This record gives sequence, structure tokens and C-alpha cells, in this order.
Amino acid sequence: MVSAIEGLVDDRAVVICCGTGGVGKTTTAAAIALEAARRGRRACVVTIDPARRLANALGLDALSDTPSEISAALWDPHHRSTGSLAALMLDPKRTFDGLVTRYAADDEQANRILQNRFYRNISGALGGTQEYMAMEKLHELHTEGGFDIVVVDTPPTRHALDFVDAPQRLLRLFDNRLFRIMMMPTRASMRVAGVALQTLLRTMSRVVGREVVDDVIAFFRAFEGMEAGFRERAAHVQALIADPETAFVLVTTPRRDAVDEADYFARRLVELSLDVDALIVNRVHPSFTDVAPAELTARAIGPAEPAYRLLIDLESVATREQAEVARVLERVPGTPMATVPLLASDVHDLASLGHIGEHLFAGPSVD
Ligand SMILES: Nc1ncnc2c1ncn2[C@@H]1O[C@H](COP(=O)(O)OP(=O)(O)OP(=O)(O)O)[C@@H](O)[C@H]1O
Ligand SMILES: [Mg+2]
Repeated sequence: MVSAIEGLVDDRAVVICCGTGGVGKTTTAAAIALEAARRGRRACVVTIDPARRLANALGLDALSDTPSEISAALWDPHHRSTGSLAALMLDPKRTFDGLVTRYAADDEQANRILQNRFYRNISGALGGTQEYMAMEKLHELHTEGGFDIVVVDTPPTRHALDFVDAPQRLLRLFDNRLFRIMMMPTRASMRVAGVALQTLLRTMSRVVGREVVDDVIAFFRAFEGMEAGFRERAAHVQALIADPETAFVLVTTPRRDAVDEADYFARRLVELSLDVDALIVNRVHPSFTDVAPAELTARAIGPAEPAYRLLIDLESVATREQAEVARVLERVPGTPMATVPLLASDVHDLASLGHIGEHLFAGPSVD
């Protein structure tokens, strides 16, 4: 007998942890990778902006585009596992650079793009870049990293499922008319561009300076010939996201606002024909008694009153939370769920990650 969430850790090649800001995506992703390693798999977690102390615990001092191995002595002191655990802290800019280098015809073309001022400014800031690079890195680690399972954290964006259609948006950029015109040689582009675009470019020059506009044009032109490679890559990334080997884990807390967001995520995933494979409700307040509220109120007399009042308050929190959880479950009926209690302190070391894991992987059993 294994819990439904254990199944993901044992069988899947990719696990994507999504959810709104601050619910515990990074923590959950790390706990899942740790559990997979303990079960003998070669696991890697891709984190995004982890809290400093957790980053330290995972041996991550800086952004990186290559995973670093976490010494087994730290997570498997009794040598029970044949697995391995690696982590990286996503560096969207370096990942983007890597993509440019991979698809450039030669070093000269790669350098022309990498040195371009416009590229240097946008590669970290372009809308959706972080999301896309997370998926890009995931694809690379999945296909070339030598891992059995790659667990990815996702950024806390409001439009949080951007990463699912980020490859598509990159492709739309190539289809954009302005982009196409900018990629043409100067004279041809000016003929096709027409008065409107020429006026726009002139205005842009006046506002941001001729140099900036030249940078932008040079940037788009430098991409010449790389379009096909990018397109193919984006299609592969998208296929991996939709692959049955990929699992989506939706993380939430039982607070109303978080549940509203989780509900939105669940709906978007369904719209995108992607399944929510597990729901994790993090930072849950436990229920301490089965006694009905009316009965607790009746007992809240005499010297026992303060204790019962406290219990009544705690129970009302737990009851409210259960009602919130029921709302998300309605959206994704039948989805395996695990709850993780609110721990007494932040989760910033391997021991407390293991503690989170105990809750995640002791969920409801299935055959
Ligand atoms: N069950 C828990 N009990 C106590 N603290 C927790 C629990 N889960 C997570 N935390 C703490 O809550 C904070 C937020 O968690 P985490 O960084 O994993 O969330 P996130 O969803 O990745 O946030 P962001 O959207 O900002 O990236 C961290 O300080 C973490 O240690
Ligand atoms: Mg995070």
C-alpha cells in the first residue's frame, strides 16, 4: 500500500509544484525531491528564490544553471538509499544565455546577442521569462541531466500558470509583425514597415534615444536563423509539460484568499487539459477534539472555562479551514490530497523538510 502522493514520487519523471505566493511551493518541491532521493531515485529540485536559510541547507549559495549534489551524509546518514539529491537555484538570465548559445549558428552570433544591451536588459525582465526559463531548465535536466525525477518550483506570479503557455508566448513573439519587420535587412524593412512604423521608430528614438532603438533593431536582427531552433525547443518544452510522466502538484494553504487562487489554478489547468495530480494543503491548524461546538460551549464554565474557550477558538479555525479545503477539492474531485500542519518554526533545514515529507507521504492509502 502506498499513499497516492507517494505514487508520484516513485513513478513520475517530472513534478511541477504550483500555487500562489507564499503557500509553500519551494518547501514542498524540496520535500518531494528529498523523499524521492530517500527512495533510491536520482532526484533534482529546481528552486526559485528560496529563503536564504533553506538555500543554505540545500548547499545553494548563488543562482546557478547547473545542479549541485547534496552530500548523502546530510540526508541519508545511515546509507539506506542508493539515490542522490541535487538542487539548483534557477538563474533565468544564465538559462536564457544558454539557450541563445545553444541555438546560435556560431560563437559570433551568440556573442552578438549576449553582448547586445537590449538583450542584457530584457533577458531577466521580459514578462514570463522566469516562467519560461524554469520550464526550459526542467526540459534540459529531464533530457540531459541524468536524473530519474526533476521537481520544479514555480515563481509566485499572480498569473501563475504563465509558465504553461510561456513557450507559446515565445513563439508568438516570433509571429509578431513588428518582430518580423525588425528581423529584415534595413532597406527592405523600411520599405515594408510603412509610414506608421517609421514614425514609431523615430518617436522611440526621440524618447529613449537613437542608441536604444539601434540596440533593439540589432537584437532582433541578431536572432536571424535561430527562430526554427527556438520554435522546436518550445514545442518540446510544451510536450514535456503535457506528458503523462509529468505531474502537477497544486499547493495551497487553507486560507480563503489562497484557496480562491488555488481554485483559479485548478480551473486553468483543467482548461489547458492538464490534470492536477495531487493537492497539498499546507500550514493547516489541527483539530483537537471531536466534541461538537455546542457541547464545548456547554462545558466552558467554572475553572475550565478559559481552556474550553481556547479549544472553541482553535476548533472554529480548524472547521473554517476544512470548509475552505472542501471548496478546492470540489474543483478537482477525486484528486489525492495531503495536509501538512503548521509547524512551530520555518522550514529551513533538511530535518524539517523530512518532517514535511512525513506528512506528505503518510496520506490516504490506495492499492
Ligand atoms: N508547514 C509549514 N509550517 C511552518 N512554516 C512553513 C510551512 N511550510 C512552509 N513554511 C514556511 O513558510 C514560508 C513560505 O514557504 P515557501 O517559501 O515554501 O513558499 P512559496 O510558495 O515558495 O513562496 P513564494 O511564492 O514567495 O516563492 C517559508 O518561510 C517556509 O519555511
Ligand atoms: Mg518559493
